[in-house]
Amino acid sequence: MKKIFITRKLLDKNFSYIKEKFKVVHNQDDKNFLDSDIIRLSSDCDGILTFPNNNFHTDLLKKLPSNIKIIANYAVGFGNIDIDTAKEKKIIVTNTPEVLTDATAEISILLLLGASRRAYEGRIYAENKSWEWSADFLIGKQMTNKKLGILGMGRIGRAVANIARGFGMEIHYHNRSKLSEKLENGAIFHERLEDLLRHSEFLSINCPGGKTNTNLINKDTLKYLPDGAVIANAARGEIINDEDMIQAIKNGKVFALGLDVYNGEPLIHEEYLKLKKLFLLPHLGSATTKTRIAMGERAINNLDQFLNKSNKPLDQVN
Ligand code: GLV
Repeated sequence: MKKIFITRKLLDKNFSYIKEKFKVVHNQDDKNFLDSDIIRLSSDCDGILTFPNNNFHTDLLKKLPSNIKIIANYAVGFGNIDIDTAKEKKIIVTNTPEVLTDATAEISILLLLGASRRAYEGRIYAENKSWEWSADFLIGKQMTNKKLGILGMGRIGRAVANIARGFGMEIHYHNRSKLSEKLENGAIFHERLEDLLRHSEFLSINCPGGKTNTNLINKDTLKYLPDGAVIANAARGEIINDEDMIQAIKNGKVFALGLDVYNGEPLIHEEYLKLKKLFLLPHLGSATTKTRIAMGERAINNLDQFLNKSNKPLDQVN
């Protein structure tokens, strides 16, 4: 039987499933391993099952033992793995697309609504028992019938669009390439990010992170948004320049911001924590039992396909 090093905890159902197929070095205590632990613990393994909070950077990948042939990431994003260095070392990297589309789209909509309708401030007033209904109490922005810009119209972006159509929103998008008419389903394509932003009363960020998209939302691009826009990021923290965003919230360019992901998470920029017009979640995009089980199965099936069936894994990304 081949052997897998699992860097963090798996849900019980996934843990039983992987043990049917592999010997494992596990981490059911969910310890935050150092690079040196990862190198040591993978010394007699054939593959690694890892998670978004383990960073397989260049140096770590270079030091991994040569018996490691595959790293299966338990996430759709793979910015935590330097896939070029992995490729140089002939290590296959896989992700878990499709299975978390709906859960993450739900969180994007929650962020837009939570921010625009001032859910965080509302909760504080409710807890402090210090509120009274009044005509101008905690006035927010309504999503219904507004223009929604979607940055990144992959599976998750399109699922956000589907939900937003129920709010009567006019959907605009920016993507590497224009989609087919069927996939667009009435959404309006903008080749340039600036043009998308001009049409984004509400903006949902659903593109991949990584080097190309780092700092995409910064002071030079924020200026194209209509005044008082609402933004949600359920993709990756690095897409937003935090300092520029904080300025835009303080000067009212951005009315409210919903975030599920952060630069340097689990840390969150101190200023974000002080601003009331923020609706913050701790990276919950895929956090439902159904989705997490499906992600685990997908990652395990990728390992199984490659190591036990000598086949190309379904979701190779490098
Ligand atoms: C979660 O953030 C993922 O990329 O799956």
